[in-house]
Amino acid sequence: MRSKTRVAFIATTAIAALALAGCSGNGGDAEGGEGGASTHVMKLALNQPETHPSFIALEAFGEQLSEATDGRWDIEVHPNSTLGNQDEYLQSVGQGVIDLAVVSAPQLENVNKDFVLFSLPKVFDDIDHQMSVLSDQEIVGDLYGSLEESNGITVIGGLTQGERSIYLKDGIAETPDDLKGKKIRVQESPVFMSMIEALGASPTPLPFGDVYSGLQSGVVDGAENNEISYFSNKHHEVAPYFSYTKHLVGADFVIINSDTLAEMSDEDRAAFDEAWSAAWEHHTELWKTDTEKAVADAEAGGAEFADVDTDAFAEALEPLLDEFLTTDAQKSTYEAIRNAAE
Ligand code: GCU
Repeated sequence: MRSKTRVAFIATTAIAALALAGCSGNGGDAEGGEGGASTHVMKLALNQPETHPSFIALEAFGEQLSEATDGRWDIEVHPNSTLGNQDEYLQSVGQGVIDLAVVSAPQLENVNKDFVLFSLPKVFDDIDHQMSVLSDQEIVGDLYGSLEESNGITVIGGLTQGERSIYLKDGIAETPDDLKGKKIRVQESPVFMSMIEALGASPTPLPFGDVYSGLQSGVVDGAENNEISYFSNKHHEVAPYFSYTKHLVGADFVIINSDTLAEMSDEDRAAFDEAWSAAWEHHTELWKTDTEKAVADAEAGGAEFADVDTDAFAEALEPLLDEFLTTDAQKSTYEAIRNAAE
């Protein structure tokens, strides 16, 4: 049956298979790689633009992985919330609609309260302390695997968000008193709600992709984030007063569908782990250089950055430790994290 019709049928099927590989999650399969092995193109969802260190380092992650596995595994990064908001990523990754995503620690707090540890003020001294903890399997191993049975998600590791500070539409906040009565956008999580309440302001949960319009329209008077996210998402255009409250070193986590991860051969899994280590180290380096640049660029765009009374902010947030460290397991992990700083 070597007719033209059969050749055309095979060609159409191959194109359909490739299209499917490009459109579906769960490591869409296509023939490829050496010796015709399967190519898994994994979709990674990100809520940041292409200029952000997370996009740059995760694209490089995919390139290194593809090279090391002769094209058997690759990653396609989808920036700018095009695959939805972070609260949706947990479900999409768990169900395998998307293979990988970057989610902020508070999103994981919503599925396992112990992740609150990474959003507590002063838990991390600085980025280096944070990254040494987030890559230390003795401290974080159980937590990273804790969502496999319940949610079908494995946490592969952390990326820094740097120090988070508060920015407003109408002026610098020298102390928490200057926030009284203001509506401040927060990530959708209990600890972030309590944080803003403890500062005397009114927390308004919004997905990250809605912060610009929320500030612009006055739904909120301010928000809190790091300098890179502030500038790369153009928040300085609508909230030009950035107060260095430095209330927290924030953490993002890269999550993957646990079944997709289990499909990797030992050799490919080793290549994946190696490429991931290179990616978070690359990200940490980029973070340090890009922060200064983001400040300079935002200033050139009219933003004002001011040092403020960080002690007053830290003091107001102290009660959060007692409020959120409630179990023995949380307390001992907190201690292990703090010990790693010394
Ligand atoms: C940071 C972080 C994002 C998070 C955002 C937020 O920019 O990197 O993952 O979504 O903060 O405040 O929502």
